Amino acid sequence: MEVRKKVRLFCSDLDGTLLGKPDSTADFTEAWDCRSLLVYSTGRLHDDAVKMVKLSGLPPPDYIISGVGTMIHHMPAGEMLHAFSQTLNEGWDTERVAEIVSRWEGISRQSPEQQHAWKSSWFWHGRSPDEIKVLEKELIAAGLAAQVIYSSSRDLDVLPEKANKGNALTWLCGHLGIGVDEAVVAGDTGNDSSMFLLPGVRGIAPGNAEPELIQCLDGADAHLANGLCAEGVLEGLRHFGVIPAPIK
Ligand code: GLC
Repeated sequence: MEVRKKVRLFCSDLDGTLLGKPDSTADFTEAWDCRSLLVYSTGRLHDDAVKMVKLSGLPPPDYIISGVGTMIHHMPAGEMLHAFSQTLNEGWDTERVAEIVSRWEGISRQSPEQQHAWKSSWFWHGRSPDEIKVLEKELIAAGLAAQVIYSSSRDLDVLPEKANKGNALTWLCGHLGIGVDEAVVAGDTGNDSSMFLLPGVRGIAPGNAEPELIQCLDGADAHLANGLCAEGVLEGLRHFGVIPAPIK
C-alpha cells in the first residue's frame, strides 16, 4: 500500500467551504488542533478576508491567499509576500483586459472593491466551459498573459497567467519548503479547481460543491464529502487523518 506523506499544511477556501453553515464552522474551530499550517485561500481581497475570518470565529491562519491566488500575506502581522505578486506582472495589463472584456455582450463588471492590480472581476451568467475558453483565447491572442476563471456559473475572474489558487499555493509551499503532496486543500467552486489538480495533493469537496468543480476532479485524489460546507471539510480531514475521528 502506498504510504502517504504526513500532512504539513491545510489550505481551504472560505465562502461555501469553511463558511456557510455557522454551527459547522464552530465545530471546525473547535476541532482544529494546529498540527499543520493553516492557510485560507479566497476570492475576497485581503482586508475583506481578514474581517470575515474575525467575524466568523475561524481559527487564525498562518497565511492568507487572497484575490483568487493573486496575493499572499503572512499572518498574524499581515505582511504581504511581494515576491509572489511580482511574478504576475509579465505580460499583464489590467486596463487592456478591461477594454477587451467590456466589449463582450452580457458581461458586467463587479464592484470597484472587487478589483485590484492583478484581478479583473466580472459577472457572466450561465456560461459553458467552451465559451469561457473563447474569451480566454481572445485575451491571449491580444498578447496578454492572462487566464479566465469561472465560478458559481456567474463570477468571471481574469487573472495573470501565473496567478490562481493552485499556483499561489505551489509558490507558498516552495517558499516554506513543503511539498504540495504534503498539503490537503478544500474548496467548492471553479476557482478552487487549480488547487485540487496539483500533483499529489489531497482534496476535499464538501457536499455543496458546484458541478463545475466536480467535473474537473477526474484523476484527482479528492474526497467528495456528504456534509455541507465545514461539516464536509471535517469529514474530509478525518478521512485523510489530519484530525482524529471523534470517539464514539
Ligand atoms: C469572490 C470575489 C469575487 C470573485 C469570486 C470568484 O466572491 O469577491 O470577486 O469573482 O470570489 O472567484
